[in-house]
Amino acid sequence: MPHNSPITWVSQPNPRLYSPANLDRYGDLIVGKAHRFAWKLNNAELQDLYLRYVSDRHLEIGPADLFFLGHTPAPALEHQWHVDVLDINQAPLEMAAQNLGGRAQVALHEHDILTAPWPVKARSVDSLACGNVLHCVPGAGFTAKAAAIDEMARVLTDGGVAWGYTLLGAQDPAISPNLLARLLMRSYNWAENTFHNTGDRLLDLERELNLRFSEVEVRVMGCAAVFVMRGPIR
Ligand SMILES: C[S@@+](CC[C@H](N)C(=O)[O-])C[C@H]1O[C@@H](n2cnc3c(N)ncnc32)[C@H](O)[C@@H]1O
Repeated sequence: MPHNSPITWVSQPNPRLYSPANLDRYGDLIVGKAHRFAWKLNNAELQDLYLRYVSDRHLEIGPADLFFLGHTPAPALEHQWHVDVLDINQAPLEMAAQNLGGRAQVALHEHDILTAPWPVKARSVDSLACGNVLHCVPGAGFTAKAAAIDEMARVLTDGGVAWGYTLLGAQDPAISPNLLARLLMRSYNWAENTFHNTGDRLLDLERELNLRFSEVEVRVMGCAAVFVMRGPIR
């Protein structure tokens, strides 16, 4: 490999971590407890992003148990609400299909967000959510994960809105993780194929988003960066 050629990061599925049994516990354990006591995330504010922005052509990326979309009223009747769901693991896709059954027209895509192109047409979704996924995917920082941001810009319509949140690396000066958060971050980054966020920095995320969207809002919430983007740059 030439000295300065870019490394291509490829994710692997983790069906043991994202098993049906673990997904059944996800809402209580992760959204209920880890968000509150470790990551200091405000679930009402995260839910509010969905209440404001979910459209009748929505793409949900990395749903786990589909907690927030599952608590969002349908913006349209079943035959008019189109939801694409993309995840590298099978069980979250199956759970999303169950949850959205009878509420939406659902298309499932078993796919890695780092691998372009996604099996979703260009300019085909008016809303897109990517919550707590970027810190799971391998890469030395957000520049190495930027293929996923390229794809967000490609699939979003000109008038659409994209949002998400991701846990920043524990060493990022933008956050002040408590002891529990530092211990969990360290052990999840040690564990195989769980977290990959030691190099994730707020400033890099802002730069990568601004390169691909004309309107970008990024703010820190506890250990996470919360981002909202509009105006994909073609
Ligand atoms: C921590 S959960 C996030 C759950 C939910 N979106 C939320 O806001 O809490 C991470 C989700 O991303 C998925 N995921 C992890 N790595 C992925 C990858 N490389 N490509 C696509 N999905 C991935 C997992 O299967 C899981 O559904």
